[in-house]
Amino acid sequence: MTQSSHQRLLIVDFGSQVTQLIARRLRELNVYCEIHPFQNVTEEFLKDFSPQAIILSGSPASVHDENAPMPPMGVFEAGVPVLGICYGQQVMMHCLGGTVLRGQGTAEYGKAYVSPAEETTDILDGWFEGEREQVWMSHGDHVSALAPGFKVYGTSPNAPFAVTADLDRRFYAVQFHPEVHHTPNGSKFYRNFVRIAGFDGDWTMEAYRDQAIERIREQVGDKKVICALSGGVDSSVTALLIHEAIGDQLTCVFVDHGLLRKNEATEVVTMFREHYNLQLIHADESSLFLEKLDGVSDPETKRKIIGGLFIEVFEKYAGDIEGAEFLAQGTLYPDVIESVSFSGGPSVTIKSHHNVGGLPERMNMKLVEPLRELFKDEVRELGRELGLPDSFIGRHPFPGPGLAIRCPGEITRDKLEILREADAVYIDQIRKHGLYDEIWQAFVAILPVRTVGVMGDGRTYDYACALRAVTSVDGMTADYYPFSHDFLSETATRIINEVRGINRVTMDITSKPPGTIEWE
Ligand code: XMP
Repeated sequence: MTQSSHQRLLIVDFGSQVTQLIARRLRELNVYCEIHPFQNVTEEFLKDFSPQAIILSGSPASVHDENAPMPPMGVFEAGVPVLGICYGQQVMMHCLGGTVLRGQGTAEYGKAYVSPAEETTDILDGWFEGEREQVWMSHGDHVSALAPGFKVYGTSPNAPFAVTADLDRRFYAVQFHPEVHHTPNGSKFYRNFVRIAGFDGDWTMEAYRDQAIERIREQVGDKKVICALSGGVDSSVTALLIHEAIGDQLTCVFVDHGLLRKNEATEVVTMFREHYNLQLIHADESSLFLEKLDGVSDPETKRKIIGGLFIEVFEKYAGDIEGAEFLAQGTLYPDVIESVSFSGGPSVTIKSHHNVGGLPERMNMKLVEPLRELFKDEVRELGRELGLPDSFIGRHPFPGPGLAIRCPGEITRDKLEILREADAVYIDQIRKHGLYDEIWQAFVAILPVRTVGVMGDGRTYDYACALRAVTSVDGMTADYYPFSHDFLSETATRIINEVRGINRVTMDITSKPPGTIEWE
């Protein structure tokens, strides 16, 4: 369990797809919370964690299922406010003496409208802007009789118990999901809940930064730390924070695998060495990586080669830094949360992600992970606190295996060079048109086909490329970005005119799923 001196809220996760969004909404209200899977929330855990309020999440399960996920009764005996959402509401009623009916034709999925009941309560303060409020429902089962002490404060056509509460015990239970975007006023609902629970909103980035620096100093003492700096936001913020805490006890290794974007290596090295004065080793091993990738076209083989070599190279350089006992990693909160699985079976591996996960055991090092409590946008905010420029913080994500997975088929230096140039023109276009921040990720993929074209009076036989741009919240699902025709034709013309080696530009308009964001 994370030790934190903040007022803490506990989210008990029963496996809803949107549990993380509850945490997001709360963090936006400057409330510190942690998500824990219901299996781990024992009576003892509750005592240790000592939450100031508890939220019970939704779930794909039914309270009538054999082995239905249940919270310990201690949740209701802790004397703190409890909010049950969807399945959380059902489980609350089930545990406290109400009745839940299995869905029989009354399921409600998607948009619904909640209207106030005769009486109102503090959790609805300022919530109803009109006569009814849009909410998002996703439930099969529903509560058919409230537990003793509960009353109804809001109803929807298919959920007569949309908002319920036992005000004496400060238990609130709702059938809808206030955390999702489609419940537009959902944040107000959470604001009311945390106010009722007495949170002061003490979770600010400035406070976090000072505490994190203290904790790093305590953990590391006078020992040395090494950090694999990729130039991405997470590793950069990790490095800067640790640098602020322990200065030159930190050495960063930037592994240049030769699969980076145009000018990227120089920009990263210059910024961190010259601007931030960080001790940085530029491990230019592009020849090694490209040699090992020569003739390889299978996507998983490429990923494995790059991941394996990365570890080898990092170990080699890190081995030269005498006395390093700690390895810094930019692990984020979503990587830490254990997911709740009901099937018990392993999930399918779509792509093996490149990361440095195997390093600490292999190198027998202790970990420093100062971002473990943060979401991606909080890391960006911390980056701003540390003085990283907005242009750097707002950069689109870039995958560990780099351009290798944007070059389907065999990778050659020529293709990489063409890809770099085309990508630079495309991104320049996106920036010039002011679209960069609206897009989650945009890049060019070079296709393993050459096509015939005509330029001037001559025949060309060059590569085709595909433009990719997606909107997304977390990279798990994505939709293609709808550029205007003018933008697309201007961009295609620029790429063909400015990049030697490409004579055809296509646009990838696949969403995820069924596609993935990257091409491999
Ligand atoms: P996919 O292609 O799986 O990508 O839809 C989802 C997001 O993850 C990024 N990505 C990676 N990031 N190492 C990373 O650090 C990887 O191996 C990797 N593969 C994909 C991808 O760029 C997108 O943002």
